[in-house]
Amino acid sequence: MEAISKRFFLYLSHNKAFDRMAKRWGSRFGANKIVGGETFSQAIPLITQLNEEGFQVTVDHLGEFVNSAELAKENVQQCIQSIHAIAYHQLDTEVSVKLTSLGLDISHDLIMEHMRLILSKAKESGITVTIDMEDSSRCHTILEVYKTLRREYDNLGTVVQSYLYRSEEDIDGLYEFAPYLRLVKGAYKESSKVAFPEKQRVDENLKRLIKKQLLNGHYTAIASHDEAMIDYTIGLVKEHNIPNDRFEFQMLYGMRNQLQSDLVKKGYTVRIYLPYGEDWYGYFMRRLAERPANVAFALKGIFSK
Ligand code: FDA
Repeated sequence: MEAISKRFFLYLSHNKAFDRMAKRWGSRFGANKIVGGETFSQAIPLITQLNEEGFQVTVDHLGEFVNSAELAKENVQQCIQSIHAIAYHQLDTEVSVKLTSLGLDISHDLIMEHMRLILSKAKESGITVTIDMEDSSRCHTILEVYKTLRREYDNLGTVVQSYLYRSEEDIDGLYEFAPYLRLVKGAYKESSKVAFPEKQRVDENLKRLIKKQLLNGHYTAIASHDEAMIDYTIGLVKEHNIPNDRFEFQMLYGMRNQLQSDLVKKGYTVRIYLPYGEDWYGYFMRRLAERPANVAFALKGIFSK
C-alpha cells in the first residue's frame, strides 16, 4: 500500500495539469504546513517566530532543473534578495541552494559566476550557503564546484548522501577543506549500481558517515527525522566529549515538530529547512510520497475553510 501511495505521489509531482491547478488554488492543498510561503517576504514572520522559539533556519528558494539562462538569473536574484532581507531583518538563517536551479546544467562558467555572486553577498552579511546534493549523475560535478568555491569562500557547506556507495570516499576527499557537511540519507530515485537498495545499509552508512565527519573534527549537520540517527549521534558525542557547538540537527519545516522542540529544550542546535517560492507543488508531492501519513494534514488543508 505504502509503495503504491509513494508511486502515486511521485507521479503527481511531475503532473503539469495538477501543478497549474495547485498554483491556482494556492496553499489550500495544505502546503503552507511545510512551505514558508510563495515569496521570501511571506516567510519572514515564520522565520522570526522559529528564531524566537530557539530554532535556527536554512531557507531554500524552491525550483530545480532550470535549462534557461534567464530563469537561472531570476533564481539568483531571488536568492540575493533573500540574503539582503535576512541581513536587514537580522534573521538567524542560512541559505540552501540547488545548483540545477542556478544554471548547473547550462554551463560551468554560468554556475560559477552565479555562485560567486551569491557567496560574495552572503559573506558580506556573515551568512553561510549550503549546496544541496541532487541526483547521483550530478554528484561529482557538484562536489567539484564545491571544492573550487571552498578555496575562495569559507561560508560554504554541502551535503553528502548515505545511500550512495561513493560517500565515504567523498568525505575522505573533502577532508582538506575542513568541510561543513550536512549528512542525509538521500531523496532521489537511484539505481542499485550507485546506491544501497536496502534501507538498513543506508542507515548503517549514515551512522558511519556521522562518526567519520564528527571524529574528523569537522562541523556536522545531521539532517534526519529518524530518532535512531539522532540517538546514535547523541551517544557518540557523549562518548567522545564532542561539544554541542560542533554539530547540529536539521529537519524539514513541519516534520516531527515535537521532536524538534524536545531537542531544543535539551540544549541542542536544531536548524529548520524552510522552503519557499511558487514552485512548491513538486516539493510538496515528494514529501507526501516520502511519508504518506502527511496526506492527513493535506486533506485537512483542502477541506477546511
Ligand atoms: P526516513 O525517511 O528514513 O525515516 C526513518 C524513520 O524516521 C521513520 O520510520 C519514522 O519512524 C521517522 N520519521 C521520518 N519522517 C517522519 C515524520 N515526518 N513524522 C514522523 N516520523 C518520521 N536529500 C537529498 O538527497 N539532498 C539534500 O540536499 C537533502 N537535504 C535535506 C535537508 C534536510 C534539513 C533534511 C531533513 C533532509 C534533506 N534531504 C536531502 C532528504 C533526506 O535525504 C531524506 O530523504 C529525508 O530526510 C527522509 O529521511 P529521514 O532520515 O528523515 O528518515
